[in-house]
Amino acid sequence: MRNRIASIYMPLFFAPRKIGRNFASSRFFRAGRGIFSSSSFLFTRAIIANPRAVGAACPSSSKLARAIAEQVELPSDGLIVELGGGTGAVTAALLRRGVDPAQLVVVEKDKRMAKHLKNRFKDVCVIQGNAVNFCKLCNRYGRHVSTVVSSLPLLSLPLGTVEAFGREVQMMLNDGGVLIQYTYRINKGVSPLSKYMERISSKAVWGNLPPARVEIFRVR
Ligand SMILES: C[S@@+](CC[C@H](N)C(=O)[O-])C[C@H]1O[C@@H](n2cnc3c(N)ncnc32)[C@H](O)[C@@H]1O
Repeated sequence: MRNRIASIYMPLFFAPRKIGRNFASSRFFRAGRGIFSSSSFLFTRAIIANPRAVGAACPSSSKLARAIAEQVELPSDGLIVELGGGTGAVTAALLRRGVDPAQLVVVEKDKRMAKHLKNRFKDVCVIQGNAVNFCKLCNRYGRHVSTVVSSLPLLSLPLGTVEAFGREVQMMLNDGGVLIQYTYRINKGVSPLSKYMERISSKAVWGNLPPARVEIFRVR
């Protein structure tokens, strides 16, 4: 009798686990997990949560990321700091360009994006933090910063944040070094950073949606 009950109930006990295991290893589940952890999904989620902080409709295209990475002078004697790493399109281009992962520090404010970057670039130091404090965040490395690559959306961030960033980057690059910043302001116009630094080059990149402009600044 006991055996009979066990033979009826045991499968019922294990069935949900088996179904769960089968579902977890199914192609459907793997595809779903891929979508939910994909760069586009993360990016869309961040836009919905805080559109001003993201300031773009989609991650940087590979063309824009390459145009930014090409501006980095190599070999570099100091750290290369990327601000607002997002989904990692620019980080990947910097590594492809030949930046040593040990020399690269990426600062990203959004918790989920920072986690994604840490998983995607295991050899790179990713800091979840505010770019406005990046001097303090980078001081722990005891090395000077030779290049700052910024994806921060200066046109949509609050003015106070842009000004704090301008002062910070001016202080950090005071003894040389450059800031590479991209913007969706396609005409050359006046940059919000002109108050703190001198723009030494400005180049339009049409192969991005929307078209962008890659600018290089140096402290006067
Ligand atoms: C235009 S998106 C970056 C796009 C990135 N290049 C990509 O392809 O995914 C701007 C990024 O800056 C980050 N961000 C905005 N304000 C920030 C701040 N104060 N400190 C650090 N990151 C910030 C946002 O979370 C967002 O990931």
